[in-house]
Amino acid sequence: MVFSYQYVRSFRLQGKVAIVTGGATGIGAETVKIFVENGASVVIADIKDELGHNFATSIALDTVTYRHCDVRDEKQVEQTVAFALEKYGNLHILFSNAGIPGPLSSILEFDMKEFSNTMGVNVGGVAATIKHAARAMVGRKIAGSIICTASVAGSFGGCAGHDYTASKHGVIGLVRSTCSELGAHGIRVNSISPYAVATPLTCGAFNMEPAEVEAAGHVFANLHGTTLKATHIAEAALFLASDDSAYISGLDLVVDGGFSVVNRCLPSIEN
Ligand SMILES: NC(=O)c1ccc[n+]([C@@H]2O[C@H](COP(=O)([O-])OP(=O)(O)OC[C@H]3O[C@@H](n4cnc5c(N)ncnc54)[C@H](O)[C@@H]3O)[C@@H](O)[C@H]2O)c1
Repeated sequence: MVFSYQYVRSFRLQGKVAIVTGGATGIGAETVKIFVENGASVVIADIKDELGHNFATSIALDTVTYRHCDVRDEKQVEQTVAFALEKYGNLHILFSNAGIPGPLSSILEFDMKEFSNTMGVNVGGVAATIKHAARAMVGRKIAGSIICTASVAGSFGGCAGHDYTASKHGVIGLVRSTCSELGAHGIRVNSISPYAVATPLTCGAFNMEPAEVEAAGHVFANLHGTTLKATHIAEAALFLASDDSAYISGLDLVVDGGFSVVNRCLPSIEN
């Protein structure tokens, strides 16, 4: 039998087991779909129970399961990893993606409780998921792939609130640090840093409709003619989860159309 290129490309995660935190909506949900389309079994770990359950059953009964998991609670994270191992027999991929926007407040009015909560979800949750997923992978000698959702706000200031910016810098730091330890076990650790995507997170944070979020994103975008969608981030996650990125670790894969590397100071050459 001759396999077409398209056929081979469409099963890049055949037989793999993944946990996707924050998989009930937005970027996580798109990633669950694309992982399943590529042959993976997925545990969605989230706190939006009804949405998560309905979403899981809407895709596939056997290969996707929803599990309540508040990533701030290490016990729940540990139990979610144990659940994935019991249900699907292994763990090859962690997409540690759950996140919250945190408040958009002045540093002069900084709320330390809010700060702790944002750090608890966005950094603590990522640390706990890496810890327990890596334990499972190391114990089973699985050369797994760990992918964390950071943000363009993880590399510079001025495009998100202080809490969120600090937390996403923390995610990139954790990825670099854990990649240095887990490489010895064959485990790759990378992050993805998206520019603005219209999801419940951004719509809620800015009190805007999806079309308004996208229009606002276009104003500062470097790349014109394409609107960044959750599916673009999911494609990046698929790349980092699959063997297509077999020797890539410690990378912050920035999906921003060049936004974060361009600072126009030559207006005369702009069209
Ligand atoms: N949308 C963007 O423009 C953008 C840009 C850069 C980075 N990100 C990051 O992408 C990730 C996904 O965000 P999104 O835009 O898809 O938003 P979203 O709100 O659609 O998804 C986030 C998910 O995380 C879940 N979650 C929140 N707190 C949790 C907790 N304590 N435990 C478990 N799950 C929890 C939510 O229930 C939700 O399903 C986040 O880490 C976010 O910071 C988003």
